[in-house]
Amino acid sequence: MLSPSNEVLLADDTITMPELEALSEWMLDGNRLTKSEQTVAFEEEFKDWMGSRHAIFTNSGSSSNLLMIFALKEAGLLRNNKAIAAAVSWVTTVSPLMQFGFDVSLCDCDSKNLGLDLNHLEFLCKTQKPSILILVHVLGHANHLKEIKQICDRYDVLMLEDACEALGSTYGEKKLGSHGVAGSFSFYYGHHISTIEGGMVVTDDSDLHQIMLSLRSHGWSRDLSEDRRKVLTLQNDIDAFRNLYTFYYPGFNLRSTDLQAFIGRSQLKKLNGIIEKREQNFELYKTNLPNFFCQTGPTQKLSSFAYGTLVTNRLEIFEFLKQQNIECRPLICGNIGKHPFWLRSNGLSELPNADKIHDFGIYLPNHHNLTDEDIMRVSEAFLTVACPYDEE
Ligand SMILES: Cc1ncc(COP(=O)(O)O)c(C=O)c1O
Repeated sequence: MLSPSNEVLLADDTITMPELEALSEWMLDGNRLTKSEQTVAFEEEFKDWMGSRHAIFTNSGSSSNLLMIFALKEAGLLRNNKAIAAAVSWVTTVSPLMQFGFDVSLCDCDSKNLGLDLNHLEFLCKTQKPSILILVHVLGHANHLKEIKQICDRYDVLMLEDACEALGSTYGEKKLGSHGVAGSFSFYYGHHISTIEGGMVVTDDSDLHQIMLSLRSHGWSRDLSEDRRKVLTLQNDIDAFRNLYTFYYPGFNLRSTDLQAFIGRSQLKKLNGIIEKREQNFELYKTNLPNFFCQTGPTQKLSSFAYGTLVTNRLEIFEFLKQQNIECRPLICGNIGKHPFWLRSNGLSELPNADKIHDFGIYLPNHHNLTDEDIMRVSEAFLTVACPYDEE
């Protein structure tokens, strides 16, 4: 449903009436609704669109993070339980690591792209000797991936990309999410495309792919390749009677449904157009707000999630924009190291750049249904009250 014309919301539905009609027809045809052929087809189409070897459809971006982190553990790829996570991130970028008993250090953010600060990353790798890193491409902007990969290679760290806000952005020709061992995406309402709830993991590692397919569904072997199933049944001496009900990994149920995969397939067809529109909106904001901080960095193609900036009077802006029927919010959620769940078990860390985002960050709406007039209206209202954060 589109919002009333005088409202500018942070997000708008990407699922349209014709898509819902097509979905209804498909459902009324009596198709199976739980994970089946639509899921496999969506995964095939998504991995091709991404340029990755494998894709696994899950029920959320959070589940995707959980799945890829646990799969690394189950694959025996981690030499210790030390991890680094981005401080400017989301709770479920970090919480799976805590839930699986990792000793987690937060990495400060780069002051321009808001991804990882290279000096702090190198310091943490040197002192903590972690085996795993999860970064976030904040609001669609790429991290300094070449330098980060060099640091990871130097200290033998596996890199995961939380690309939940960066579907379609590129760095050096390749899409974000396809640069590390695995990458995650969210298809929650308000993201670039939506499957109502939903997410995806991509990887080029075939072994990891098989492990994730099993972990996604209880730890059984039903979704695995013929070869892999054969090996597992032989190794564990499993007969045909017990085959479907034998668990090889301590699994979860992180599956989505074929109903949602059906929506995902139609959403994917519109994705390139959505990315173009979001990028145009970003450029218009940038032109309109020259005196305010604008994210910059090595992103080649920007699939913008929102327009993030820094101001000294957020509450005043929030109240003023609300009166004008315009939404705004904190820049993701600031520094995750300042949230109660983290402080309770880890205390306060020294993260000056992330603290700045925590205290002064704000983001303005960007979605595919915003017109140039909407962006002008938001920009004018914003400029009426906003005071730029000045480093000096
Ligand atoms: C960076 C990041 N990671 C993970 C998530 C979680 O995705 P989901 O809401 O699909 O669980 C979000 C949600 O917005 C996010 O911004």
